Amino acid sequence: MPVWRTSPSAMLIIWWHIYLTARSLVERIKMSATLQKLITPLFKGLPEPPRNKVTVVGVGQVGMACAVSILLRELADELALVDVLEDKLKGEMMDLQHGSLFLKTPTIIADKDYSVTANSRVVVVTAGARQQEGESRLNLVQRNVNIFKHIIPQIVRYSPECIILVVSNPVDVLTYVTWKLSGLPMHRVIGSGTNLDSARFRYLMADKLGIHTSSFNGWILGEHGDTSVPVWSGANVAGVSLQTLNPHIGSEEDEENWKETHKMVVDSAYEVIKLKGYTNWAIGLSVADLIESIMRNMNRIHPVSTMVQGMYGISEEVYLSLPCVLSAVGVSSVVNMTLTQEEAGQLQDSAGTLWDIQKELKDL
Ligand SMILES: NC(=O)c1ccc[n+]([C@@H]2O[C@H](COP(=O)([O-])OP(=O)(O)OC[C@H]3O[C@@H](n4cnc5c(N)ncnc54)[C@H](O)[C@@H]3O)[C@@H](O)[C@H]2O)c1
Repeated sequence: MPVWRTSPSAMLIIWWHIYLTARSLVERIKMSATLQKLITPLFKGLPEPPRNKVTVVGVGQVGMACAVSILLRELADELALVDVLEDKLKGEMMDLQHGSLFLKTPTIIADKDYSVTANSRVVVVTAGARQQEGESRLNLVQRNVNIFKHIIPQIVRYSPECIILVVSNPVDVLTYVTWKLSGLPMHRVIGSGTNLDSARFRYLMADKLGIHTSSFNGWILGEHGDTSVPVWSGANVAGVSLQTLNPHIGSEEDEENWKETHKMVVDSAYEVIKLKGYTNWAIGLSVADLIESIMRNMNRIHPVSTMVQGMYGISEEVYLSLPCVLSAVGVSSVVNMTLTQEEAGQLQDSAGTLWDIQKELKDL
């Protein structure tokens, strides 16, 4: 039998911890006497549960940008954070709590256990593995599917009525995966989709035209990423169609090369990642904008990823971005765009690309 001995320094640490625990217990008892003197309770029932709770799963760069944007826009009465990295999670929670004086979200909590997410109205999923050098897209997808197999059932277990907003990449495939794993109706599983691509497009176009981003109206639909579809036929400023002014706009024949702007949108994530290692602020701001439409039941229209089977001649079960009406129920309806044949064809191509990946996924 081994004889366990405790060194004097270890004993000192143990006694120090016992002393600290006892001291904090005594302080709490003392404080509760002060509390009783300070406050006379009138209501003796249980505390009110949160009514506008938002959870962010994954407290990496994107998750924290989402969290801060949600807090600053005052969208939640309770914010819960979840991650597998316990120290990072606790550190982020404490850092946000220390800003409470400047916020209107009274409860900020975090835990790796999903019970902390209970009764969320919206759950934002930003968790996931990053692509490794030389790793195929399909391999990354399968790795993230395996992570989602753990995350999604836990979310639904504690918040069966929630809306899940998927941000992790490849976002369209992972939104489909979330829909399958969650068993939720399709209108309550949404991908952030081309909301960010459209925001980038509007910024870049408006910048060229010398106007504010909100005054250029244009949509990027389809897959978030390389095969996204710019809807040049609908691009307008104050209702003036740019295609009426320049019939070749966005095409190869266009001498002004407006097509370049869409290429800049596609390249922009790669460029920002090359410069700072990741993208986070714009996605965080855009996610908060989506959540505002849901929490405030606004019926605003956003380009987000939704189940598009049966639309624009798409026969596969895929998630792609279309202009969606967002309200308290999630995606309440989809706008039928008047697309050119070429634009509809590009959407079908995106659907085909995604289906080719999805049909290879295991254990869904
Ligand atoms: N949809 C978009 O427009 C868009 C834009 C930017 C980034 N993204 C995507 O967002 C995701 C996150 O990016 P990031 O820069 O924050 O990455 P990151 O590596 O900084 O953060 C990912 C976080 O997920 C956590 N995580 C991993 N497995 C988990 C699990 N099983 N449960 C809970 N948490 C887990 C990690 O611990 C980490 O904190 C990536 O997939 C990225 O490609 C999407």
